[in-house]
Amino acid sequence: MTTKSRKKIYEGKAKILYEGPEPGTLVQYFKDDATAFNAQKKAVLDGKGVINNRISEFVMTKLNNIGVQNHFIKRLNLREQLIREVEIIPLEVVCRNVVAGSMAKRFGLPEGQQLPRSIIEFYYKNDALEDPMVTEEHVTAFNWANTQEIDEILAMTLRVNDFLSGMFAAVGITLVDFKIEYGRLFEGEFSRVILADEISPDSCRLWDSTTGDKLDKDRFRRDMGNVIESYTEVAKRLGIMGDMPKVIEGGITS
Ligand code: C5P
Repeated sequence: MTTKSRKKIYEGKAKILYEGPEPGTLVQYFKDDATAFNAQKKAVLDGKGVINNRISEFVMTKLNNIGVQNHFIKRLNLREQLIREVEIIPLEVVCRNVVAGSMAKRFGLPEGQQLPRSIIEFYYKNDALEDPMVTEEHVTAFNWANTQEIDEILAMTLRVNDFLSGMFAAVGITLVDFKIEYGRLFEGEFSRVILADEISPDSCRLWDSTTGDKLDKDRFRRDMGNVIESYTEVAKRLGIMGDMPKVIEGGITS
């Protein structure tokens, strides 16, 4: 089935979800659209969707192998992957190892300061409200997640952080921070929390461990240039370049 004949379920800023081939599945399509500052800044970056599809596939597969359950089933083509349908928990879960971005701004701290321990923050996923930061009290009071789910989210996020920090360190990249999302997978009347969405240079801060060069979406947010080149560098270091150079030069859109 082509994307055109599939029913669109949801369109976000960087991805589209289509109905999957079987019940309980969806197709996640990675767009080239880049947005920042709650979509006030927009651009199309040729090839970004292709790279993020590959990087997210790589990371989710590795996480699955170490027992961090997630929605990824398999990659279908350059821009699409088959995923499990979940009920998204409306939280952006941010984990930080080094001060950067909104944390630097909020607390007046210099970017690059190592945190004494990893810090997890919750933001309410709501564009109209510009994703406000919330506490666990808000999360439970407004029934976005229950205490058991929060405990699972915290434990899984720390595991993801430990694993990804090591994986990136091995290829000379510091994992400064990242954002992940979770969803509920229903099995009868019970549900469990699994990792959803994507993990890519769009959702992580990745700094070259030696030079400090940014290899992530901050290059777009801060007009630093070489966005695709930096994402490609991340893919290259992870050893997953595959067919990507052709894609970037040829501007393949499928
Ligand atoms: O902007 P801030 O410093 O809070 O971002 C923390 C981390 O979460 C960064 O890696 C950023 O790329 C990611 N993030 C995201 N989507 C958002 C907000 C932040 O992927 N809506």
